[in-house]
Amino acid sequence: MLFIANAEGWPGIPTTVEMLRAGSDGLTAMVAGISKVEAETKVRSVGHGGWPNMLGVMECDAAVMDGTTRAVGSVGAVPDTIPVARLAHEVMKRLPHVMLTGAGARRFATETGFSVDDVLLEDSKRVWWERLEKEMTPEQKAAFPDTPLAPLLKTITDPERVRDTTVYLSADATRGIHAATSTSGWAWKYPGRLGDSPIPGAGFYADSRYGAAACTHTGEMTMRCATSRTIVLAMKLGYSLSDAVKLAVDELNELTEGFLGGVVIHAVDAKGNHEVVNFRCQGEIRYWLWDDSMPEAELRAAKTI
Ligand code: GLY
Repeated sequence: MLFIANAEGWPGIPTTVEMLRAGSDGLTAMVAGISKVEAETKVRSVGHGGWPNMLGVMECDAAVMDGTTRAVGSVGAVPDTIPVARLAHEVMKRLPHVMLTGAGARRFATETGFSVDDVLLEDSKRVWWERLEKEMTPEQKAAFPDTPLAPLLKTITDPERVRDTTVYLSADATRGIHAATSTSGWAWKYPGRLGDSPIPGAGFYADSRYGAAACTHTGEMTMRCATSRTIVLAMKLGYSLSDAVKLAVDELNELTEGFLGGVVIHAVDAKGNHEVVNFRCQGEIRYWLWDDSMPEAELRAAKTI
């Protein structure tokens, strides 16, 4: 068994490891772990501790993928809901659809018994408004929210504040290789913006025969390159894990226009290898690693590429 997660995924690591060790399927174990991350207000990139969109509304994205069946459940821009990875899992289990967004996702949450949660912290609301107020002209402020938001996007939206989408990848006792993600996305994003975390192939992909990948940071790049699917497809075509990751990084590196930033790639193969690489992110990037020879998960440093 193998499990890797981004550093900020810490609140759920013991839960997921314990459940994997007890023989749980990987998706159930990872969703249980991520639910703890989403409820932890100290983690400022996901769920209750995350940042709102430009209107001060929390819109969360999450997804799960079963690498054995390639079933996916995904939710995007979901308001008023904290355990969004669990909601994505319900989409996968109950619906003929892959992805629900916005009001439809919230409606499905209510139909399946999820509470309506006040996701935005008072402190996040204060920081959101202070920053917005500073950037707006008196005319924009008087008209807000009935003022065009796109002109504000250049100065306010803040991908760097959300440095660490939650990504979990595991190979469970039955050799199922699965992926799960959750995030509140860019801070002060344009309402309705989806990042890569709910997009299969971009923010995550899993195929139990070959491996899985998931990305954090600049979703605007991994969506353009289908980074996670590229890695898994390259392994299917015979690339080693490290060559598959290198191919995906080369593709990111080819982008010269549009919004460019850092990306962290987390990837595992079906032989039990893993790679976590930092492409252009500032500072040291770390991740959690656990396999069944280890008493508990350890924090490791990602390779800078
Ligand atoms: N990678 C997370 C996002 O772009 O929202």
